[in-house]
Amino acid sequence: MLPYIVAISGASGVIYAKYLIDFLIRNNSLVYLLISKNAHKIIKEELNFSFLNLKLKNLFYEDYLNWGSPLASGSFKSKGMVIVPCSMSTLACISNGTSNNLIHRRADISLKEKEKLILVPRETPLNLIHLENMLKLSKAGAEILPAMPAFYRRPETIQDLINFITGRILERLGIKHKLYPPYSGAKDVEKNRKKS
Ligand SMILES: Cc1cc2nc3c(=O)[nH]c(=O)nc-3n(C[C@H](O)[C@H](O)[C@H](O)COP(=O)(O)O)c2cc1C
Repeated sequence: MLPYIVAISGASGVIYAKYLIDFLIRNNSLVYLLISKNAHKIIKEELNFSFLNLKLKNLFYEDYLNWGSPLASGSFKSKGMVIVPCSMSTLACISNGTSNNLIHRRADISLKEKEKLILVPRETPLNLIHLENMLKLSKAGAEILPAMPAFYRRPETIQDLINFITGRILERLGIKHKLYPPYSGAKDVEKNRKKS
């Protein structure tokens, strides 16, 4: 079974990664996890949690500076890579092909090997450099999936917002989920709201 690769870089919104990994593992997928140095700090700050303490059969943690990792080679195949959240720094490194760490290197491989690469950037406002990097990456084959939850489903909790972004990532990976009902118009949203 080919794995998914999930990388967490140093941007706000690390909770999206937590729920994505949780879903993939419960879905019996294999997951290779990479975490940048700054991401570790933000995980501590935003979640007061450590992914390193997670001991799960299908979850493999790889040091983001380990060039000896199988992930550093295109001969290691995956079902796709998601960088969530994706900092502007990581975005810039991938866009410029400077593989300074294993996250950038694996993203570079994903593009050259035509494997799915989903980037979930989180920054606001965006400057010209951020936008140009995203445009370049989109042209190179990456999917840019900004951490921008929608409000047409009338979210009531933070969990609803997390589910929206996690669900969108899963859909782009081709994985079915029930994190929210399929959208079939404003009337349905009203009906679901009354039910809950
Ligand atoms: C608490 C905190 C929150 C941050 N949030 C963001 C963010 O939302 N987006 C972003 O692009 N950078 C953010 N940064 C800055 C990045 O962490 C910084 O540019 C770092 O060099 C990114 O490196 P990495 O991509 O290798 O993790 C944040 C930094 C800290 C300390």
